[in-house]
Amino acid sequence: MIPIAKPLVGEEEKTAIVNVLNSGMLASGPITEEFEKKFAEFIGTKYAISTASGTTALHLGLLTLGIKGGDKVIVPAFSFIATANSPLFCGATPVFCDINPQTFNINPDKIEKLITKETKAIMPVHLYGQAADMKAILEIAEKHDLKIIGDACQAHGAKYNKKMVGSFGDLECFSFYPTKNMTTSEGGMITTNNEEIAEKAISLRNHGREKTKWGYEHGCLGYNYRTTDIASAIGNEQLKKLPMFNKKRQENAEFLNKKLDFIDEIKITFVLPECEHVYHQYTIVCKNRDKIIQTLKKHEIGYGIYYPKPLHFYAHLNKYAHTDLKCAEETAQKVVSLPVHPALTNNDLNKIVNAIISVYQHPDR
Ligand SMILES: Cc1ncc(COP(=O)(O)O)c(C=O)c1O
Repeated sequence: MIPIAKPLVGEEEKTAIVNVLNSGMLASGPITEEFEKKFAEFIGTKYAISTASGTTALHLGLLTLGIKGGDKVIVPAFSFIATANSPLFCGATPVFCDINPQTFNINPDKIEKLITKETKAIMPVHLYGQAADMKAILEIAEKHDLKIIGDACQAHGAKYNKKMVGSFGDLECFSFYPTKNMTTSEGGMITTNNEEIAEKAISLRNHGREKTKWGYEHGCLGYNYRTTDIASAIGNEQLKKLPMFNKKRQENAEFLNKKLDFIDEIKITFVLPECEHVYHQYTIVCKNRDKIIQTLKKHEIGYGIYYPKPLHFYAHLNKYAHTDLKCAEETAQKVVSLPVHPALTNNDLNKIVNAIISVYQHPDR
């Protein structure tokens, strides 16, 4: 079976974990501080604040921006559910915006008409590893005095105009879930250049704790959204390997593009000229998805439907759809993601290509 995702952990991660276990500091300590410092350096921001997950990073991020009950946050209608749930955690509401069906990211041309006096922020998602159209989004945010919180949970190392995703807007959030381009097992990170945001996030992730002599001083309602040194030890090693992982993903994607592009019934991902895509997912838009899935199953090739529904089709989110979201709806019916991870062999790649081509060569298709 060729899996759709495969975390690549080696001896380096195992040794780093054992070192933490031997150190006696299993909670968040010096290894986490090292991970934060190195991640901030990699992204090119002044601060990186680790969290327990990408979801908790998004929640904390919104809180640090002051998002609260009655506020509205514009989010793409096509993403993982945490994107839309995080404003709800703050008592705010997500407002769904349609996507560009070629890049799968939020369509900046459709943002402005959704802005009302309650709108406080835009949350672009860099879906599948390609940056959202940040120039246009930043211009809209500036014009309307809105905050930007980037959902970079799928875009470690992706670039927009040669600048690293994670360094745009007020802050951005990453996930280190095992399927991601790098992992810590579970974990997340907020990146920002804003000292006030960084300090607020550090306090809120630790029950609103304030810096005092004795420690147990809590200035506001906060959470336990901390990570551990065990997770960060994995993160430190994975971060060193991330450029190599991403390069392999890009090479795999290039191979698949070359072999599949000639098939009329398939659309490969359009990459904006400003973007360096890191292929968290390799996603095609196809006409006869069921047939492709049947064939992939038959050849024991993993696949994923990210995502089978646009966000406003979930019962608790349906009431936040106030506009035409046709591109998100149609895309959800036509996408399928193929394996692109760095553990694929040439043999695996050829097997994937041959399976897809066979769907379209079959006389009864
Ligand atoms: C776009 C997006 N946002 C948010 C998240 C949430 O991250 P986590 O699973 O680490 O909570 C994910 C993770 O799958 C994601 O892909």
